Amino acid sequence: MLTKSLLAGSLLLVNAFASPIAQADSSSQTAQAQSSDGFQINQTYIDQANKQIKDIQSKQNCYFTSEELYQHAVSFANDYLYPNNIKQAKSINSTYFSEDVVGRIDITRNYEGRELNTEYLFGLFSDLQDSNTTNLIGYSDAFQLYAFSGSCNQYTISNINNATFPGAGQKIPFSINIWIKLNEKKEIAQYDLSFLRWERLYEMIKLGGYRQISGNDSATTIPEEGEKQLQHLLVESICGVHEKYCQKDYPQYDSKDACVEYLTNTRFGLSWEGGRDTIFCRSVHQNMIEYRPSVHCPHIGPTGGDMCTDEGTGYEEVTFNYQTIFKEPFIVV
Ligand SMILES: *[C@@H]1O[C@H](CO)[C@@H](O)[C@H](O)[C@H]1NC(C)=O
Ligand SMILES: *[C@@H]1O[C@H](CO)[C@@H](O)[C@H](O)[C@H]1NC(C)=O
Ligand SMILES: *[C@@H]1O[C@H](CO)[C@@H](O)[C@H](O)[C@H]1NC(C)=O
Ligand SMILES: *[C@@H]1O[C@H](CO)[C@@H](O)[C@H](O)[C@H]1NC(C)=O
Ligand SMILES: *[C@@H]1O[C@H](CO)[C@@H](O)[C@H](O)[C@H]1NC(C)=O
Repeated sequence: MLTKSLLAGSLLLVNAFASPIAQADSSSQTAQAQSSDGFQINQTYIDQANKQIKDIQSKQNCYFTSEELYQHAVSFANDYLYPNNIKQAKSINSTYFSEDVVGRIDITRNYEGRELNTEYLFGLFSDLQDSNTTNLIGYSDAFQLYAFSGSCNQYTISNINNATFPGAGQKIPFSINIWIKLNEKKEIAQYDLSFLRWERLYEMIKLGGYRQISGNDSATTIPEEGEKQLQHLLVESICGVHEKYCQKDYPQYDSKDACVEYLTNTRFGLSWEGGRDTIFCRSVHQNMIEYRPSVHCPHIGPTGGDMCTDEGTGYEEVTFNYQTIFKEPFIVV
């Protein structure tokens, strides 16, 4: 029964994702096809998919060969590494992105425009080494590409990045999947990035941080008091950044004390709350502030700007609405 309802759920999703391209045709027949394992497959979906193929093919832009796409993937992954990312960050508007690029990072939020994406994809990781901030995030210095497929103007790539997490005092590898769509100038027009097993990585980073604070290298769990100490370090860091870059011209708090008090009473945040009203979110954004304080200071303030707020992050909103920022579906046939 369970499998059957899951299957029904996935068919519904296919239908929802397909809808920008082809609306379900109510006049098409609804005969049932019987699959070998006895499940009923609604013929409407098969008809719809067949119609979709022609529609997609008539609109898709086959600008590049698979070889060119593979080279682009490797070059992008390489420039994402430290210290190559410093050069990209310094360019302000990286030539990897189209001017109106839109992107989605699953554990945080959507990012629109070239300058913002240059900051979040390159700047964010380019000076964690020598900044005086305490961080949950890390920077990569090597990658292993283990999956790729590309055609026309689109590719998907999966990497294991070897990363250093200064806040956790250790190197931890992590995997990401990215879907990328290029325009005719070979600029990234849209991307959709997800972390794999981020929940475990997040716990490992926090545990690494706690081991450093407590000096207990064999700690396997973080006691409540330890969570508070971790939060305190992150809050001190965020409020230090506020003091340095925001206090004068873009103040979000009246003073450092007010900042510390406010954020001590803000929740730490679970692994999926990197784009919500949490310390986790503000801790990520503290690294952006030096680039454009006018734009980024609100993200560490009480309102969270439009980045660290619970608004628009209901489960179904995230599940369905995030697709709407993409101008084209990530489908090539
Ligand atoms: C098949 O799916 C379509 C679209 O969701 C629906 O309108 C139709 O009732 C379904 N047919 C059957 C036999 O379940
Ligand atoms: C980056 O691009 C934006 C417009 O997208 C522009 O306003 C800004 O001046 C550019 N900055 C640099 C340094 O090129
Ligand atoms: C970090 O702090 C040290 C000591 O206060 C200082 O010398 C250094 O310039 C600071 N680095 C940054 C990037 O602010
Ligand atoms: C990444 O780290 C692993 C484990 O430490 C190591 O075996 C591997 O060689 C590293 N990969 C690269 C490309 O440096
Ligand atoms: C260190 O952590 C381990 C495992 O969580 C625990 O059993 C032990 O008591 C801790 N040691 C100290 C000194 O707190």
